[in-house]
Amino acid sequence: MKGVDADTFKKELLKQSIDELGHAEKIARRMIQLGYVPPSTLEEILKFTTCGQLTMPENVTDYESFIEKILRAERCAIAKYNELIKKYRFKDQITYELFEDLLEDEVDDEETWESFLEQYRRRKI
Ligand SMILES: [Fe+2]
Repeated sequence: MKGVDADTFKKELLKQSIDELGHAEKIARRMIQLGYVPPSTLEEILKFTTCGQLTMPENVTDYESFIEKILRAERCAIAKYNELIKKYRFKDQITYELFEDLLEDEVDDEETWESFLEQYRRRKI
């Protein structure tokens, strides 16, 4: 990976945002299969979230805080998916496999942001 800069962050955020929308769609599809009505507004979605809403740091050029916030969100998602995997293992194979796939994506995201943070800190010193 090349050095970290605003453009690199922007591209990765866009890619991961699209991935996260894909996750939401897969979860919504599974909820419908199971007879539930998935939340359809941001307000409803925020009621379900256990990781809170990701906000930008006050200083938008504070990349370190920005990456740390994203990493906290990724780790929260990883913990949540691990919890759901345990919950559905041996109970609902399709839901279990869905959360396993989502967990794999979140672990990839975490690795990417850890790498960015490491590069950023190295460059700053
Ligand atoms: Fe993620």
